[in-house]
Amino acid sequence: MRPLPDSMPELTPAPRGWWERDADDGERQFVSTPPPTRGPPAIEVRKLSKRYRGGVLANDEISLSIPRSAVFGVLGPNGAGKTTLVRQITGELVPTAGAIRVHDIDILERPLAAKSLMGVVPQEATPYQHLKPHEHLVFFGRLHGMSRSQARGRADELMAALGLEEHAGVTAVRLSGGLKRKLLVGSALMAEPSLLVLDEPTTGLDPHSRREVWALLESLRGRGTTILITTHYMDEAEMLCDQVAVIGAGRILAMGTVEELRGLCRRRYKATFENGAGQRQTVYGSAYDEVVDELARLDIHEYTIGKTTLEDLYLELTSQTLEESQYA
Ligand SMILES: Nc1ncnc2c1ncn2[C@@H]1O[C@H](COP(=O)(O)OP(=O)(O)O)[C@@H](O)[C@H]1O
Ligand SMILES: [Mg+2]
Repeated sequence: MRPLPDSMPELTPAPRGWWERDADDGERQFVSTPPPTRGPPAIEVRKLSKRYRGGVLANDEISLSIPRSAVFGVLGPNGAGKTTLVRQITGELVPTAGAIRVHDIDILERPLAAKSLMGVVPQEATPYQHLKPHEHLVFFGRLHGMSRSQARGRADELMAALGLEEHAGVTAVRLSGGLKRKLLVGSALMAEPSLLVLDEPTTGLDPHSRREVWALLESLRGRGTTILITTHYMDEAEMLCDQVAVIGAGRILAMGTVEELRGLCRRRYKATFENGAGQRQTVYGSAYDEVVDELARLDIHEYTIGKTTLEDLYLELTSQTLEESQYA
């Protein structure tokens, strides 16, 4: 595996803006995005609900606010409503109720302006298989209104930053899963979006490829790009995210920093051990001594004991019914 650079090289700024058809003469013109201002959050979601035609209420009054430059994780099991939430934020899906503002722009009122701020990597997206990596990047740059030479220049830089140069000669269909994902992330970054949206970017990848994608996202941190990522992997959320919203059955069950969420877990400590039948077993307690006493009662002398993790909270939350949830 090729190591990733510690930091991304400086990239040439792409034009920020979008193409709009003039109402009078029908000519397409480039409208520049105003430079980001301090103040309003990157994404503001208010009481967002989505009911699909079949009747499924996939998002139920979700509200959240994502500060600029934050890495925000939406964590939840399959079917929790993550993709539904993301597709409304990216303007692909019209909400049943509620409001979404991206950099203070209402996604329903001005979808083009809002979308021009975002780079999106949808769940299960695959690159155009017959394009080579550089062609793929240039293609996306051109879609975003870059000139051919601008797109080529930035594609050169991203090829290096993504570690794709040694794979320049092969078509996307022949790339490994991790490299395909990196190519898709790179393509979403071509127009230097203020906001990068990734729906389960590492699901189905092998451990090496996952780490490559993490390293890439890590290198984007602190560069001002706001990142919204969905995942059902706790370690991914713990590793990458400044803030996390845990969702289940379309509702937010808990939200905060990883530290704050760990603090919500009523079971603060846990011990794992092998029981008489050779199976791993876990005991939880709200205090260290409580766990030690329980182990003594069970006559267990070999164990590992530590603080509970985000995973323990996640399991606690997502295995409860919503009515029972203490944290909503
Ligand atoms: N196009 C659709 N039509 C009807 N129901 C859907 C559609 N897409 C998703 N759902 C349902 O909405 C719920 C949430 O799905 P989804 O947002 O894809 O969750 P996640 O991304 O967390 O796995 C699920 O019950 C799913 O079956
Ligand atoms: Mg999904």
